[in-house]
Amino acid sequence: MSEGFPPRRLVAGLFGTLKLMQLYGRRHVATTGAVCSLAEAVREAAAEDGEARVAARGRRLQVNGQTMRARECGALALGYLAAEWGKRGIDQVRFQRETTAEDLETFIAAFLDVDVTRPEPAGRLAEALSAAKVTGIMVQRLAPEEREPVLLEERRESVMRAYLRGLRAFKEVLRCDGLRDRSRLRRARRAVQGVVDSFLEDESAVLALAQIRSFDVKLFHHSLNTCVYAILIGQRLRFSRRQLSELGLAALFHDVGKTAPRGGAPEEEERAHPARGARMLLEEGTSHEGMLKAAIAAYEHHAGADRSGFPRIPHEPHLVSRVVAVADAYDSLTAPPGPHAPLTPPDALARMLARKDLDRLLVKVLVNAMGIYPVGSLVELTTGETAIVQAPPAPEALDRPRVKVVRRGAGALEPDAVVELAAADGPRIARAVPAAAVFRSVLEHVSAL
Ligand SMILES: [Fe+2]
Ligand SMILES: [Fe+2]
Repeated sequence: MSEGFPPRRLVAGLFGTLKLMQLYGRRHVATTGAVCSLAEAVREAAAEDGEARVAARGRRLQVNGQTMRARECGALALGYLAAEWGKRGIDQVRFQRETTAEDLETFIAAFLDVDVTRPEPAGRLAEALSAAKVTGIMVQRLAPEEREPVLLEERRESVMRAYLRGLRAFKEVLRCDGLRDRSRLRRARRAVQGVVDSFLEDESAVLALAQIRSFDVKLFHHSLNTCVYAILIGQRLRFSRRQLSELGLAALFHDVGKTAPRGGAPEEEERAHPARGARMLLEEGTSHEGMLKAAIAAYEHHAGADRSGFPRIPHEPHLVSRVVAVADAYDSLTAPPGPHAPLTPPDALARMLARKDLDRLLVKVLVNAMGIYPVGSLVELTTGETAIVQAPPAPEALDRPRVKVVRRGAGALEPDAVVELAAADGPRIARAVPAAAVFRSVLEHVSAL
């Protein structure tokens, strides 16, 4: 298909403008240039009918009723747009032929701005457009029953692939001498990028996967999950994509010093791993800015925000180290490496809030980002049923996420209806339940999501 095929140009224009505005913001010259080309693409695609319609049908994207093919438009752009439409519960967006570049700029900004973790994002997007007096772009929402199944299926698959890729790459890097092999290091970096990207795509799906590791508490999982929680905090601190990657890399390697034990007593080894890890990272990766931060975080992650930990340092730990310390603490408490029983997420968060060696503000950021009951975790309701948390709660009601009942009483697992805990007279969460008490395998846990 030629470059000039109007639906193709529209898809490329939407994809490019969304990505550029995400990367550079609204006023950057790259973004404004992309918005102008998008306006042209809309005019061309709307030439025949007076409007151009972009609709998502599951994984597929349709322009003017015609399904776009990966060969013509690129699988990445199509997948991204279909997923973003789906995330916002949008059925289709109709762009009138007369749509101006200013209107498109407003639309793209509002599209990126709308909080997808709260109910009815499509409706709120439409409201934002009418408040900004944009009349040439109509957002039509999906009927509620059409929304969730498609979304969960898609999310689970692509996000799980990125997560597992991360796990695999990291295992390879940590195998003996892994750090000396540059290509493995590169692969680890790419894997972190993949985790960051899938996180930006769908944060709750990645978090759900992090919940699942409690069956296997090996160092790989600990490192990758520390990476996931650190990215979550970084995102809430409005880190750029590049900063998120650096943070993710630092979190992934924070305990790398444990991979080269010298046979000392366990306590001695524990005390030695920060400096040892920093040395390993400095020896191998100084040419890369991200590796330098990783070395700092490896050295400082047990130093303590109040400097009560080890090693003793003469200054406040770097922000990256403090974020990694909070992420590390959360994963260590909810999936401890030793024989200790894991804490449930609310217990872990409560304990962390009371600790002086953790940056309290960052712990609060984590609580706010995850809710008290993270997506993928298990809870017992006041009705006696066991349920799995499916979606994060609204910020004003952190204790009331959306859940799905998986078991009634002591009976067998039975996937059941989704329960909104938001209703004033409805059931409440009585307590958090460890996943291992309900599921016998990771697969069972994943299938329940
Ligand atoms: Fe550590
Ligand atoms: Fe750790």
